[in-house]
Amino acid sequence: MFKEKYRPQFHFTPAKGWMNDPNGLIYFQGEYHLFYQHNPYSINWDSMHWGHAVSRDMLHWKHLPIAYTPETEIDDYFSGSSILDEHNATGFFKPGETGMVNIFTHRDNGVQQQSIGYSADGRHFTRYLECVLPNPGREDFRDPKVIWLKDKKRFLMALAVYDHVEFYTSKDLKKWTFYSKFGELEGTHHGVWECPELFELPVRGTDEKRWVLLVNDQGSSKNQYFIGRFEGKKFVSENPRSLHLMLDGGTDNYAAQSFSNMPDGRCVLIGLMVAPNLFNCAPTNPWRSNMTLPRELWLEETPEGIRLFQRPVEEVSTLRGEKLSLSGEHVDRTLRVTDHIAPQFDAELVIDVEKSTAIQAGIQFCVGKSQEIVVSYDLQRQMLYVNRSMSGDMSYADDIPPYHEMKLRPRDGKISLRILMDHCALEVFDLNGEAAISAQVFPDAEQGEMHLFSRKGDTLFERLDVYAMNSIWED
Ligand code: FRU
Repeated sequence: MFKEKYRPQFHFTPAKGWMNDPNGLIYFQGEYHLFYQHNPYSINWDSMHWGHAVSRDMLHWKHLPIAYTPETEIDDYFSGSSILDEHNATGFFKPGETGMVNIFTHRDNGVQQQSIGYSADGRHFTRYLECVLPNPGREDFRDPKVIWLKDKKRFLMALAVYDHVEFYTSKDLKKWTFYSKFGELEGTHHGVWECPELFELPVRGTDEKRWVLLVNDQGSSKNQYFIGRFEGKKFVSENPRSLHLMLDGGTDNYAAQSFSNMPDGRCVLIGLMVAPNLFNCAPTNPWRSNMTLPRELWLEETPEGIRLFQRPVEEVSTLRGEKLSLSGEHVDRTLRVTDHIAPQFDAELVIDVEKSTAIQAGIQFCVGKSQEIVVSYDLQRQMLYVNRSMSGDMSYADDIPPYHEMKLRPRDGKISLRILMDHCALEVFDLNGEAAISAQVFPDAEQGEMHLFSRKGDTLFERLDVYAMNSIWED
């Protein structure tokens, strides 16, 4: 178990069965809880349960029994969130005690409505049988993410309703009142909107704060975000409508959600590493899909305005093992770094752009006679690329986007990247946090050469550090 072909060794996967969105992320009674959309009966989407796992570091997960199981053949537990009921507003807990409340879409006979459940110990879950927000006649009315508004002393729910987000409030999580809506004319609309989330973050290095609204566009498989203010009852974006901001340059970070009730104030997000149009396709068995690594988010001022920045949580470095290093390497074509490295590593790569003449430079790994995965930087266009066109098995679906790109400017004349490769999960980050690209890949693990390369000129690679990664499933 957990040794199968393509099985990620430091990304979360269910032991078996199908998984999609992360749900109900919460820190509760000393543990991080991860619930997820789950079909335990097959590796295809169907009959949605809430799978459940807990961890003390957001990396080493312990699988627990399913938290919510459909009651009939025609109901499902769709995506949602969790919140700490600190003052027993629901009355679900013993006087003076707190508990966790899970807020989800219960799809009953095709109708999407919001329901809740609760747990006093993080192990036993009870559904509250009354629906808390009935369907007003909409086909798409789902994915409640609830937060506590401190100044208003109310709960706030963000809900995806076809092509926009609706906000509702409540004092007891059981009765919800419509507040406002956002988005019909904002952002991208290649498909329905799903899994929204609103949170407030400080802008690093300033006294300012901003509200961030994340929402996924199913048609493009992109998690887009808006930055603005929450004024009175409304979210107001501060950017022009023509500006489309995306959390990830790849298509494989969908339905990401942040942990509620974090003990240290960090904003940490986990996403699903599968694009909606590629559900039910990946060549893995007996499980399907994996989560992204937990990522810490913050806001930073850039020349273009305030943007979301991200990096893997610092806990990820605790999995690092043996290291392979190079420094100060001038490369004018290709430099073979190693003949073989397992596709389970965490690498840092720094390119000195000012001291390089090349137009493109980067790293190739999982290289063999028919295979390579390329992470590169275009020094002229200032773009970060991931090329998975020859990344191994690409036959499992049509329409797998072969390339991903994201704008990235050098800092102090350098480009610093972090590349996390975990069998079928590839996550690439700017070490400063400005860009991220997530991509599913299915390489043959036997083809494992690693090269640095430089095109049309010379590149100074200031350093390359490659750490073998330990498995979270051992011991
Ligand atoms: C997103 C999504 C959600 C829905 C869930 C069903 O991937 O479609 O909108 O709640 O998956 O599994």
